[in-house]
Amino acid sequence: MIRTGRPAHFSRFVRKCLWRTARGDSSPEETRPARVLKFRFRKDGLEQLFRFRERKALSKQTIQPAKVVAGGVVPPGDKSISHRYAMLAGIAEGESEFSNFALAADCHSTLGCMKSLGAEVVSDKTSVRVTGRGLHGLKGSRRTLDAGNSGTTIRLLSGILAGQNFTTKIAGDESLNKRPMKRILTPLREMGAQISARDDNFAPLEIRGGKLRGMHYEMPMASAQVKSAVLLAGLFAEGQTSVTEPARTRDHTELALEEFGVRIERHGRTTEIRANGGLKLTGRKVEVPGDLSSAVFFIAAASLFEDSALHIQGVGLNPTRTAILDVFTRMGASIQMLSLRTAQGEVMGDIAVKGTQLKGGVLEGAEIPLVIDELPMLAALGPFTEQGIEIRDASELRVKESDRIAALAENLRRMGATVEERPDGLKVAGRGAGKLHGAEIEPRGDHRIAMAFAVAALAAKTPTTIRDAECAGVSYPTFYDDLARVAER
Ligand code: S3P
Repeated sequence: MIRTGRPAHFSRFVRKCLWRTARGDSSPEETRPARVLKFRFRKDGLEQLFRFRERKALSKQTIQPAKVVAGGVVPPGDKSISHRYAMLAGIAEGESEFSNFALAADCHSTLGCMKSLGAEVVSDKTSVRVTGRGLHGLKGSRRTLDAGNSGTTIRLLSGILAGQNFTTKIAGDESLNKRPMKRILTPLREMGAQISARDDNFAPLEIRGGKLRGMHYEMPMASAQVKSAVLLAGLFAEGQTSVTEPARTRDHTELALEEFGVRIERHGRTTEIRANGGLKLTGRKVEVPGDLSSAVFFIAAASLFEDSALHIQGVGLNPTRTAILDVFTRMGASIQMLSLRTAQGEVMGDIAVKGTQLKGGVLEGAEIPLVIDELPMLAALGPFTEQGIEIRDASELRVKESDRIAALAENLRRMGATVEERPDGLKVAGRGAGKLHGAEIEPRGDHRIAMAFAVAALAAKTPTTIRDAECAGVSYPTFYDDLARVAER
């Protein structure tokens, strides 16, 4: 088993390119235009999203083994960024317009909540317009806000709701109502909000907003959602609010706040926001980069077959998200970033992947929060790697949309893999333990489990069926169509 270091090559690479681009001496190698490729248009994403939201019967998808993955893919707009833009637009003044807004059902839960709070929302295919009510203009909703399956919606929005002069109830689906909320209740209560929760930890939450006090919060865990909830509450607080995180997490909230006109100070792992009553957010017209966490399913799929050549277009390459590219590269994957550019503070570009033999390795420590959403895909790749994959320090996976450690272990075993399940991770044996066979996969309603096994199924000996396959729509409603388009049999 190789132990992997933390070289952060891609993060450094992205920063270097941007610095050069800013100086105007970008090298043609690093920023050459994307290859011209024929992309067949995917089915109307919104239509599929509506199908997802109305799903009555649980759907199944059968995935046939493939020989190669080739062509081009355009992943949907980034889920994390879309949530933040939708929320900030709702408390901004004037109109915001977002192109390539995520098709993810989760982000449409956020839009629904903002609408219930008085923002005007108009969506047309992947473009969304939000007319905000200003920082103090939201109105209370008599109905309980519905966060659906989305942890980001409930946790981030709670920060905003804590600063309102009304009381709001917010809840989600069965899975979301089982996920821990104490992590946001503690700091928001410390700032002055009154919040009640089932068993003092779970949704439904009842948030009685009011005057908030700024504070410094030392986060006990590395979570972008907790950091963001505190910073968003800080918009409404007297004085300054700052957060120190124990390890770096995605910084989309900080970048989005700056984009909407809020000054943020950053020193190392501490972020500070000074409100002092005089803040104003201004509506913006922005493009949402493609979702790297969705693109990762295709990077993995292409890496499974030696003759693969895949071009993934318009992907967000924010350095707090690209650790997964470093992991793939360490494992021997062939990945190239092309056409780098910035879109309102966020970095984006294309990714070219070629097939290789993956080595595998250990993932642990400070790298875990940076690749938390990609761990299901990495674990499901384990049986196709030379040395297998071991994941440590990742007990957070147990409180995601499902208990992802248990879901991974169960479904990998169904396909014939050798797996050791541990409290904080798992160890998946590599190629030597035998080739996987097809199986019936139970994703436990978790989008990333469904998609990870649909990819693993491409390299299995026999066909695989994914039960409740439409749960992929939580982040990627057109996933199976996109996968079928690039997987050649
Ligand atoms: C997210 C943060 C992460 C991630 C989630 C999206 C965000 O959660 O797993 O899918 O948009 O801030 P945690 O903050 O709980 O790690």
